[in-house]
Amino acid sequence: MNQRVLVAGPASTSLADSLSKLLKLSVITVDTKIFSDGESKIRIDSKMEGKTAILVQSTYPPTDQHLMQLLMIAHHLTQDGAKVYAVIPYLAYARQDKQFLDGEVVSLGVVSHLIRSVGISRVITVDIHSAEGLSLFSMPIYSVSAIPALAHYIKQNLRLERPLVVAPDFGASKRAEAFATLYGAEHIAFSKLRDRVTGEVRVESKALDARNRDAVILDDIISTGGTIRGAAGILHEAGARKILAVCVHGLLVEDALELLRRSGIDEIVSTNTVPGPVSRVDVAEPLASYISTLGD
Ligand code: R5P
Repeated sequence: MNQRVLVAGPASTSLADSLSKLLKLSVITVDTKIFSDGESKIRIDSKMEGKTAILVQSTYPPTDQHLMQLLMIAHHLTQDGAKVYAVIPYLAYARQDKQFLDGEVVSLGVVSHLIRSVGISRVITVDIHSAEGLSLFSMPIYSVSAIPALAHYIKQNLRLERPLVVAPDFGASKRAEAFATLYGAEHIAFSKLRDRVTGEVRVESKALDARNRDAVILDDIISTGGTIRGAAGILHEAGARKILAVCVHGLLVEDALELLRRSGIDEIVSTNTVPGPVSRVDVAEPLASYISTLGD
């Protein structure tokens, strides 16, 4: 087996550090400078020939900057003779994995081409938005689930009364079901209507009685928080006692966190695929257990 090293991309230094400890690998740091126009300059002072580099770089906002850094680092590593496995904890553009309207670019397909073009030979991500997106990649790709880690965290840290796990839309229902099974709770799914032109969303549900119950809204991504706020509105009306918003990727753009807190959500919990104030669940462990099964 090639000597393995862990390369810490600038977007995921802390996660890379935890991963290196679990996998007992030395860390290669990446010297990054951001120019005032937003361009990145990358320098890696290490000899990579014959090594397998596990490059960890998430692609949360500033999305294109982090994506470009991933491509630049991978390009350098492969040019220097390394085999590169890219760990992309939050895989940007995964929500556009098909054409919803005529003429739309399948953005994830473009990302897949770019990843291939810099010589990355394997991709490991966490809870890709939809399994359909995996088929756009022409190299091995695997999506590790953070749901067991999230369920474990909630069970250990928050005491819930007659918990009800809620998927805010159909797409989230499989994850909500998995979470509910691991937690030992009931689960339901709301439906979400999205205006494909304006992007506006409306969450709807059948008649619901959530009195004296604590609700856990479970989604893969919280971006503006609009979906979660829609679901929380229904749960408030249904009399829910406490409302938690739990997600894998807490993008929480602009004032999303503030808006969620103001809308009466009691707790917001995400993983560290996107580092931030609510990223309390570490995905290093599930990533490390998958990576340790891989050969060269
Ligand atoms: C889309 O279907 C995703 O699963 C999330 O529900 C969505 O990205 C959340 O976005 P926002 O927080 O802006 O409503």
